[in-house]
Amino acid sequence: MSLSIVIMAAGKGTRMKSSRPKVLHKLAGRPMLDHVIGTTGTLQADRQVVITGHGADMVESAMKSAFAEAPLEFVRQEPQLGTGHAVQQAVPVLPDDGITLILNGDTPLIHASTAQALVDACGGDKLALLTINLTDPTGYGRIVRDDTGVKVLGIVEHKDATPEQRAINEVYTGMMAAPTARLKQWLARLDNKNAQGEYYLTDVVAMAQAEGLSVVAAQPRDEVEVLGVNSPAQLADLERRFQRVQAERLMEQGVRLADPARFDLRGTLKCGQDVDIDVNCVFEGQVTLGDEVQIGANCVIRNATIARGAVIHPFTHIDGDTQGASVGEGALIGPFARLRPGAKLGKGVHIGNFVEVKNSTLADGAKANHLAYLGDADVGERVNYGAGSITANYDGANKHRTVIGNDVHVGSNCVLIAPISLGDGATIGGGSTISKDAPAGQLTVARAKQVSLNGWQRPQKVKR
Ligand code: UD1
Ligand code: MG
Repeated sequence: MSLSIVIMAAGKGTRMKSSRPKVLHKLAGRPMLDHVIGTTGTLQADRQVVITGHGADMVESAMKSAFAEAPLEFVRQEPQLGTGHAVQQAVPVLPDDGITLILNGDTPLIHASTAQALVDACGGDKLALLTINLTDPTGYGRIVRDDTGVKVLGIVEHKDATPEQRAINEVYTGMMAAPTARLKQWLARLDNKNAQGEYYLTDVVAMAQAEGLSVVAAQPRDEVEVLGVNSPAQLADLERRFQRVQAERLMEQGVRLADPARFDLRGTLKCGQDVDIDVNCVFEGQVTLGDEVQIGANCVIRNATIARGAVIHPFTHIDGDTQGASVGEGALIGPFARLRPGAKLGKGVHIGNFVEVKNSTLADGAKANHLAYLGDADVGERVNYGAGSITANYDGANKHRTVIGNDVHVGSNCVLIAPISLGDGATIGGGSTISKDAPAGQLTVARAKQVSLNGWQRPQKVKR
């Protein structure tokens, strides 16, 4: 049976008090709508329709770039006259048969299995609602059942509900699955005679019931799946709950998190055995940590691979961006180190405090321990790169490479003006500005010769 998915994402999100459309606010580093489409993408639907309205251009372009391959359709709802009106806009692009699953763009953590269960409960000839019992149902549409409690009679919005109905704890989560042909007929009959003057999607429930169609309810496995976001406080709350779930999944795999409440993953983190992660670390994009890796407190690591036994000391920032960054086995990084895109560090490399590495390869055993910059450089094995030394890789117009052979020793405070190459075993005297290639095995010094003046007198203060 054909499956159509409609995701409502046209609402303004007034309570976010933001110029950004609500569904583009981020949860775990991705727009909320991105989570929903990512999930529905696994359901093998024949079509996915996103209803946009508020900030439509922004929402559509964000989703088109995030899901370049997915065949998403966008339908505009302008103005926004309610959830029923929103789905009415999708009617022209929906087929005349099969099942339509309706989801919300501001309820990001719905599981694929729950959405599928809702579709299965519909089965093509029933109206299936996703409901949940809440201790505080304020604001939600209530599920009104008959005296036996079996039959669903309808949904009453909070603002339209009587005191008795407000006492009902079972609420509608905003998600339903319906036979498409019937849904189209019901949508055509909606009116806006209610407390909010809106076209309520929820009014289709009473129509289905009146037509003798069975209305069934499915429940999510976890409450977090149906929590919607209306305010910054709710967004922050959902973020913490989501992070907790991710932290627990990692701990189940054996990862030792110093404090799961102070852990943030905005992407995918793959960990080997015996990984330790201290407090306040943020992982973004795709990060891989090998066996026995240790991550100190307050590190931010994005799009990077860290090999077995490497130790990342506190306050280190690693950002591989689109190029990636990699740290070799047993390397020691930080504290206060910065690895930028294209940093490729071999085994046992040491990068110390206030050292920045960009688009550079450091072979096994190379060390840059203090206050240095390596940009666009190829650094050989066992090189010792002195404190305060930099590669001057930019001539104001173009970037050039610096090649440093094996076993080179660069003294402190050197400037290596690229393009340049230092031969194997070369030694560069501290304080040198090197603008020509340095031969292998020799000492190269490029600085004013030191002189001492015998009999020189310090100036004396003139007494008046
Ligand atoms: C809706 C339900 C309510 C349910 C609650 C769950 C209706 C009438 N009520 O109420 O029973 O308990 O969700 O969270 O459906 N939207 C549009 N266009 C519009 C209006 C809304 O696209 O014109 C979108 C919003 O962006 C949002 C979703 O629909 O993603 C829900 O809208 P919202 O205004 O939050 O509905 P609620 O009043 O919360
Ligand atoms: Mg809502």
